[in-house]
Amino acid sequence: MNVLKKRLLLAATVAWGVSVLPNTMAEYKPIEQPVEPANPSLKIESRNDLFKEQFPKQYQGWADTSKSTDLDSVNYEDPRVVVLWAGYAFAKDYKKPRGHFYAITDVREILRTGAPMTPDAGPMPMACWTCKSPDVPRLIAERGEAGYFGATWGSGGSEIVNPIGCADCHDTTSKDFAEGKPALRIARPHVLRPLEKINKKFADADRTDQRAALCANCHVEYYFAGDLKQVTFPWDNGISVDEMEKYYDDIGFVDWTHALSKAPMLKAQHPDYETWMLGVHGKNGVTCIDCHMPKVQGVDGKVYTDHQIGNPFNAFEHTCANCHDQSKEKLKDIVKSRKKEIKDVMLRLEDQLVAAHFEAKAAWEAGATKEEMKDALQAIRHAQWRWDYSAAGHGGHIHAPDVILKVLGTGLDRASDARTQLVRVLAKHGITEPVKVPDISTAENAWKATGVDIEKERRAKAEFLKTIVPQWDKEAREKGLLPPEK
Ligand code: HEC
Ligand code: HEC
Ligand code: HEC
Ligand code: HEC
Repeated sequence: MNVLKKRLLLAATVAWGVSVLPNTMAEYKPIEQPVEPANPSLKIESRNDLFKEQFPKQYQGWADTSKSTDLDSVNYEDPRVVVLWAGYAFAKDYKKPRGHFYAITDVREILRTGAPMTPDAGPMPMACWTCKSPDVPRLIAERGEAGYFGATWGSGGSEIVNPIGCADCHDTTSKDFAEGKPALRIARPHVLRPLEKINKKFADADRTDQRAALCANCHVEYYFAGDLKQVTFPWDNGISVDEMEKYYDDIGFVDWTHALSKAPMLKAQHPDYETWMLGVHGKNGVTCIDCHMPKVQGVDGKVYTDHQIGNPFNAFEHTCANCHDQSKEKLKDIVKSRKKEIKDVMLRLEDQLVAAHFEAKAAWEAGATKEEMKDALQAIRHAQWRWDYSAAGHGGHIHAPDVILKVLGTGLDRASDARTQLVRVLAKHGITEPVKVPDISTAENAWKATGVDIEKERRAKAEFLKTIVPQWDKEAREKGLLPPEK
């Protein structure tokens, strides 16, 4: 295309953009996503148990992730989140992560996935299985991306049954792996594409980058794009909080409309890989593996990789102590104090956001117009995205505390924009007294204040776990995906 033509096209696009998309929050236009067809030649062995005998040390480490059992409920610890996510499934149930071993159990049991009593019932799409199991790349290879993503979560229940395991990180059917070599592999096409966009193409990457990229299979920010609800990483502009925010704004993507403020919200996932890259360790080439999967020596004297992914302080001698002279206590104290500093600022931002959501609700009730509310709602969107990016990136206080503090700072700034504008809108409609926030001191009160019938959700889930899940497991055993019942 010659330069003139290009200019004309650009001018036309800009003009169209201005006339058709007057608001920043224009209608959601899904960007074109490539869809890989089925690839039956890609054999993926998802059954973790098959590797127990050949690789007992790696298998045992992996199985020992089951020792990390704590499953703390964030909604109970900090009921503000019930308000922040009002109108969205996270308001019902959000728990801290635990061992990889529990990935399938936990996604079945969390209230967010609901209680689909038939394969066609909602509410969630297949995308919700995507970071839970090596059965996911297996199914994508068998059905193609369109065949995998374009269905309900409930329809995958008897297929996706093995928790995060060997085939999520290794080409377990290769000759190299049979010989005990790592044969690292990413088999999810929707992960390989964005890695290429940020110049980390997996096939060409060195071993250090490849190791870290394994975790980017799942520990990243993503959204569900288009009618297929295809897992997609918002990395076209880059991986910083601003670049991902711009990506979402440009396509007008909205995860949900807030039940109180009606703001067009974004839900951050867990941008661990992104924040790690921007932190001091990431910049120095110290990867997730150096801290979470160190090399250790077996009783036979042979060095192998510790597969018990968990808190690196539990293996201090093989992790931090490899590079740092400080004592375990000293480093633990540093990490703990950073966690506390971040938490303090995070809670301030939460309080600002809670107030803003109720103020916006009051403004609507007082008769505010869409036009009057637009800028305030956009500011709420940005402020909460920044809060969520910091809260959902677990371990951000060690991975990149400076980055997280800056993100929270800009979040406070946007929350203050929102509240300043809301004061004006409220005053214009005759409300000059401060807007009262109802009692949200407990999760129960917060659910009441935002209209969630939590008991109903729990009853439905209990029934689903009692009747549907055993059926899923039975079918999976018949297909040979799970070992026979003991
Ligand atoms: C989350 C990713 C991940 C999972 C899950 C995983 N591995 Fe690994 N595995 C690694 C990494 C990283 C290495 C080290 C690679 C390197 O040294 O470059 C490794 C190395 C290995 C090696 C090479 C020898 C060694 O110990 O360094 C074997 C064999 C192995 N894993 C077997 C398994 C088996 C069996 C399972 C399932 C029970 C499994 N892995 C699950 C990431 C994983
Ligand atoms: C296939 C997706 C997937 C891959 C690959 C993956 N993770 Fe995870 N990870 C998860 C999920 C899902 C959870 C939460 C499981 C739960 O709570 O049920 C989790 C939990 C964790 C936890 C918390 C463990 C605990 O005991 O609290 C750590 C730490 C972690 N992952 C680190 C890593 C690292 C490091 C890598 C790369 C070597 C990695 N993960 C690869 C999906 C994945
Ligand atoms: C310099 C070492 C280091 C590196 C590199 C590192 N982590 Fe961590 N990570 C930690 C420590 C230490 C903790 C626990 C912090 C604490 O105790 O409060 C942690 C916590 C986590 C958690 C939260 C676990 C939980 O239960 O809340 C996840 C998830 C995680 N890391 C994943 C990753 C991933 C993925 C990468 C690479 C993209 C990575 N980490 C790189 C040291 C590291
Ligand atoms: C493979 C080597 C390596 C490992 C393992 C490692 N670090 Fe580091 N760490 C570094 C390097 C390199 C730097 C940057 C040093 C610099 O810039 O002066 C650093 C810097 C730090 C800093 C100071 C930078 C900051 O954030 O202010 C802290 C704190 C730290 N590491 C904690 C830990 C902890 C805790 C662990 C174990 C969970 C750990 N590191 C594991 C290499 C490592």
